[in-house]
Amino acid sequence: MGSLAIACVVGARPNFIKAAPLLAEFRRRPRFQPALIHTGQHFSPEMSGSFFSDLEIPPPDVNLEVGGGSHARQTAEVMLRLEPVLAKTRPDALVVVGDVNSTVAAALVAAKLGIRVAHVEAGLRSFDRTMPEEINRLVTDAISDYLFATEASGVRNLLAEGVPREKVFLVGNVMIDSLLRFREKARASDVLLRLCLEERNYAVATLHRPSNVDDPARLAQLVAMLAELSQRLPVVFPVHPRTRERMERTPECNGRLLLTPPMPYLDFLRLIADARIVLTDSGGIQEETTVLQVPCLTLRDNTERPVTVEQGTNRLVGTDAKRAFEAAIEALNAPPERKPAPELWDGRASERIADTLEQVL
Ligand code: UD1
Repeated sequence: MGSLAIACVVGARPNFIKAAPLLAEFRRRPRFQPALIHTGQHFSPEMSGSFFSDLEIPPPDVNLEVGGGSHARQTAEVMLRLEPVLAKTRPDALVVVGDVNSTVAAALVAAKLGIRVAHVEAGLRSFDRTMPEEINRLVTDAISDYLFATEASGVRNLLAEGVPREKVFLVGNVMIDSLLRFREKARASDVLLRLCLEERNYAVATLHRPSNVDDPARLAQLVAMLAELSQRLPVVFPVHPRTRERMERTPECNGRLLLTPPMPYLDFLRLIADARIVLTDSGGIQEETTVLQVPCLTLRDNTERPVTVEQGTNRLVGTDAKRAFEAAIEALNAPPERKPAPELWDGRASERIADTLEQVL
């Protein structure tokens, strides 16, 4: 049995959390020769560097330093800069995770060079093509050779699109691998102390989806809603750079609304684990709160992660600020019942993925 050269591409914040346990697992196996390629889509210390140290990810072997820009520019820059790297190194497989622009760009380059593509977190569908991530998911899945699904809906969606059964593997959730691996370490974070918060007596909010933040008026309404909620209990709002760019002024507030920079992984994990409720438009946080059994209100009309609603503590409340506020008050008064974690969200998804790659490659 020969060695397996596996290149793993990451670009944006959620990618780092998903790739960390995969890289650790690949490194543990003598047959694997993993290489890490960072596209540089996210580049600031708070969106990238801190995740490498918190998640114990070794420095990337290559950094393409693409930075920000329009979707076309960002995707094209990743493709242009990645092609010579893959053409030279020709790994046995390229692993991509999630649904960001770096994911689809890297998958396209590898597929055209005849390098096999493994997509981790395949098959998720919001059925909303106004979301850039939905386009990225559809294209990446269509050209991948091995599709690793986190939940049963992912498998169903892929089969319904005509993907052959033998390409699809239900393996669980690598983001939850990280959560379980680092949960103990996160307990040591002093973030609650620094922000003067009491366990189970504050809310956490995150907003960064273009549909919620790109229109300054919409964003202002949502932030005003958080300010109002903060009269009931403190609300911590780590502000994503995209959101920060569009916030025109500091919200008026009679309560305790704490605006902070984006947080490192361990601080944020501690923060959501001990929150009373979470309000978010993120995909990953819907999954993390499901396992942490913290009530989550998702400020979107749809989710590509239905298991978090069916089996978890997640509720879709839409994007209307007034409705979201009412839902938050309801959740504070009557928290949803706690349920066990979804099937295979047990901290061993990376192991299953590595086992499968050993068999198929
Ligand atoms: C991207 C992903 C989204 C994911 C999110 C997590 C796509 C299409 N979107 O969205 O799916 O949920 O990451 O954060 O790939 N910026 C900085 N520093 C950084 C990174 C970004 O200041 O380290 C600023 C830049 O001005 C940039 C803007 O934030 O233009 C948006 O970044 P971008 O990578 O385009 O998209 P995200 O909104 O972060």
